[in-house]
Amino acid sequence: MRPTFRRSIAVLMVVAAVAACSAAQTLREEADRREVLVGTAARAYLLTEGRYVTTLARDYNLLEPENELKWEAIHPAPQVFDFLPGDQLVEFGRLHRMKVRGHCLVWGRYVPRWLSDGHYSADQLRQLLHEHISQVVSHYKGKLFAWDVINEAMDENGRLRSSLWYDQPGIGEAGRGTAYIEQAFRWAHEADPEALLFYNEAEGEALNVKSDALYAMVRDFKRRGVPIHGVGLQMHILDLKPDIAGITANIRRLTGLGLQVHITELDVALPVDGEGRPRNAADWQRQAEIYRSVALACFSQPGCTAIQTWGFTDKYSWIRNWTKGNKGSPLLFDREYVPKPAYFAFRDALRSLPLRMRAPLQ
Ligand code: G3I
Repeated sequence: MRPTFRRSIAVLMVVAAVAACSAAQTLREEADRREVLVGTAARAYLLTEGRYVTTLARDYNLLEPENELKWEAIHPAPQVFDFLPGDQLVEFGRLHRMKVRGHCLVWGRYVPRWLSDGHYSADQLRQLLHEHISQVVSHYKGKLFAWDVINEAMDENGRLRSSLWYDQPGIGEAGRGTAYIEQAFRWAHEADPEALLFYNEAEGEALNVKSDALYAMVRDFKRRGVPIHGVGLQMHILDLKPDIAGITANIRRLTGLGLQVHITELDVALPVDGEGRPRNAADWQRQAEIYRSVALACFSQPGCTAIQTWGFTDKYSWIRNWTKGNKGSPLLFDREYVPKPAYFAFRDALRSLPLRMRAPLQ
């Protein structure tokens, strides 16, 4: 097939897909009408790319800075805060009437060198973490509706990971279990009493030893009045085999505590070839069914109030780097921003939910 002919076919496909998107309801329109949040991780440096911006504003009522609010980016040196990239995403959200979610205040990984190599004492780290949480949460007070306060503090067995913040040397709570996590929540709540505060975790989505430990921790926090409002289940699906029944049961027991659940980093990775194209054509449909199932597992339960994907176009997903090129194509839009079968399956799942005929989310 001559290249020009192939190119014109491709153009026609894009036009048809965009028309299909725009003519029918977008994800955002379906989400707004059901008063749920459908969001995505977003990157400030991509706000100059036309199709990135139009897709983000058209299909999502929620965004979360992928990296701009992490220690490395926002607190690059002692006493130095760089709020600009985060502010750009927050302003984009404000202009497009999107909610913005913060990620993340405390994570044992990707800590800036000045901190990890700083040989700080526990007392000094306590002061540094308190100042970081106070400065960052106060800066975004009233602009972010929710925060991932703690990210990935547990290992696969549900035990607390050793980290700078827990016991290496920690903030003076080493060996006292979840005390450092509780302290971070209390500092975040002091800085913005209106923000919803979440514990965010990977690989604790279904029923397993890790999610049992997570459930026990947040149940204890709730009982003792620790200011926690929800749990973030990341939902990185790398094997096309999610345990939907287990995920549903886990969401039910967490929301049964009076907590919200957000699906915070959903992506469904496919085996791909060297060009990033899925190896098996059947995987498109398998991926679509998984997106549909996760949407229903969450939104069919009142306390599960948001689903975010970790990015929205395959062009900028973390997956290919993470899997050394073996997996990819994990999101709802392909590299050319054309909606995939997964997009339509996710939208159909939203459509199957009852309407909550209120005005679109402001
Ligand atoms: O911004 C610097 C750039 O100046 C520098 O030239 C470049 C080369 O090293 O690095 C750039 O920073 C990178 C950053 O992404 C922004 O692109 C960091 O090295 C890189 O480590 C960072 O990776 C992110 C990773 O978290 C660590 O923060 C990924 O993009 C991001 O998708 C990933 O997201 C995490 C969630 O936060 C938590 N859950 C798991 C998820 C996937 O790992």
